[in-house]
Amino acid sequence: MTDRIRLDGKVALVTGAAGVIGRATLELLARRGARIVAVDRDQQALAQAVATLPASAQPLSLTADVTDEDQVASYVRTALERCGRIDVFYNNAGIEGDITPIVRTSLDAFRRVLDVNVVGVFLGMKHVLPIMMQQGAGSIINTASIAGLIGSSDIVAYTASKHAVIGMTKTAALECGDSGVRVNCVCPGMIDSRMLSAIVEGRNPGPTPVPNDRVVERIPMRRLGTAAEVASVVAFLASDESGYVSGSAYTVDGGRIAS
Ligand SMILES: NC(=O)c1ccc[n+]([C@@H]2O[C@H](COP(=O)([O-])OP(=O)(O)OC[C@H]3O[C@@H](n4cnc5c(N)ncnc54)[C@H](O)[C@@H]3O)[C@@H](O)[C@H]2O)c1
Repeated sequence: MTDRIRLDGKVALVTGAAGVIGRATLELLARRGARIVAVDRDQQALAQAVATLPASAQPLSLTADVTDEDQVASYVRTALERCGRIDVFYNNAGIEGDITPIVRTSLDAFRRVLDVNVVGVFLGMKHVLPIMMQQGAGSIINTASIAGLIGSSDIVAYTASKHAVIGMTKTAALECGDSGVRVNCVCPGMIDSRMLSAIVEGRNPGPTPVPNDRVVERIPMRRLGTAAEVASVVAFLASDESGYVSGSAYTVDGGRIAS
């Protein structure tokens, strides 16, 4: 089957590129024709992530911490210098933090999650937006979560941070006006991944793993999502097929929060 949504000639900058969703997105954007700039703080995992990409993606990997403004400015500048433009920015790096109720969450742990998930997303947009606005075109996709739309016990900082990502997405979309730049976010639900396992295990400590039936019982589609299914929505939002879509929060959750 041919890919209907093509990204030929577009330069796609992806953070959190070495993670489960980041890697799936790199692969799909590359397959659809994009040139790839991959950013992560984990240098070794990043090298592995880009190693499997096709040569046509001309992959460039940049190690950076998204919470550090100098490093953000530097990865954005390098991407622009090496590729000449930035068409797609998948602002995706994030952490789950401690899995504890509010009363057992330390202030340091709370701030650490906000630093990556809120400050990191803010800094990425702050430095990429001027370039896209000058180009008169571009698509930013932030990774929020269904935890940005509903409450979720034991992950208070994560929940706060993802609500903030949705708010920042809407604000950025308003500020982009008719510049030609669109800003949206994806809200993945329960995706088969390291992060989901960490949250499930953190909520259910003990030697016996939680049976899959229990994990999926509140998902109408009765299964976990895949990282590729998140990547698919990101690719749509990255493409010109979503030309009139801005300020939106797309759930990718098998119907989990439909009720
Ligand atoms: N996995 C899920 O079920 C799920 C559900 C909803 C939302 N999300 C969101 O999707 C995004 C990706 O999650 P994932 O499942 O791929 O997680 P992951 O842990 O596999 O990947 C996250 C990546 O971000 C990188 N990273 C973390 N902090 C960083 C920093 N300060 N600077 C640069 N890179 C940093 C990590 O090194 C890692 O490679 C996150 O924002 C997460 O909150 C995930």
